[in-house]
Amino acid sequence: MTIEVTAAHGAGAYIAGVDLNTLNKTDIDTLRKSLGDYGVLFFRDQAITCENHIRLAEQFGRININRFFTALPDYPQIAQVLKEPDQTQNIGELWHTDHSYDQIPALGSILVARELPQSGGDTLFISMIAAYNGLDASMRKHLQGLTATHSSRHVFGTKALKRHSQDDLGGRFKNADAATQDSIHPVIIRHPISGAQAIYVNPQFTLHINNLPADESNSLLIELYEHCKQEAYQHRFEWKPGSVAFWDNRATWHQALNDYQGERRLMHRITIEGQPLTGRI
Ligand code: SIN
Repeated sequence: MTIEVTAAHGAGAYIAGVDLNTLNKTDIDTLRKSLGDYGVLFFRDQAITCENHIRLAEQFGRININRFFTALPDYPQIAQVLKEPDQTQNIGELWHTDHSYDQIPALGSILVARELPQSGGDTLFISMIAAYNGLDASMRKHLQGLTATHSSRHVFGTKALKRHSQDDLGGRFKNADAATQDSIHPVIIRHPISGAQAIYVNPQFTLHINNLPADESNSLLIELYEHCKQEAYQHRFEWKPGSVAFWDNRATWHQALNDYQGERRLMHRITIEGQPLTGRI
């Protein structure tokens, strides 16, 4: 089989001509390059087993065993992203970049569709490299050298857990006591694989831009978020049975749509460790 890579509108690329259960070294090299080039890879019609999901992730780095999500009983490496028919909240509804609260943020995740609603439950992706490229020169200059603080506390910590006990996310997250991570990263990073510049703040986990008065930090973040959310930088991925998405957190944001009330959606997610981020060339 020859791998075909087709750029998607806005962000990412569709990968065809590959069976994720039987990858060889050339396939892995092509996927690695495509991930660097496109930020998120979309696959259709896969029947990937849990073992091969783990094997695929291990080709890209060490697996991060998620401390907040419930794992599959037989596969601690695989986190469940689940919404039951009687639950109203989903996981990942706000635009975000996974693990930006870690000092060494995760490279990315491989998400496999296991049970899907009849319709809805799409995931939106934004290319943060395209969003950076769309900034005007004066904004790029303004952002260069700035850093931002990110945190897990307000999303996974004990206060959030109390909120989640009312909004029904509670049972799906664990280890609130472990949500002690805060991190500082450049607002504009150099992507560790491609060297491209990307915006690295996100609505879910970024608290503020450092060394700016609070109102200036807030208005700059709002301006950046509005810029990033433009349709031109977005791709809407419609999940079908057998779909898989592999995204790079340093190059994308994502958002899971919560438009399938009364139905079950179960995804298997493996997250891969990354490396420290820098804004330097
Ligand atoms: C996530 O935010 O990691 C989950 C995305 C999804 O369920 O589509």
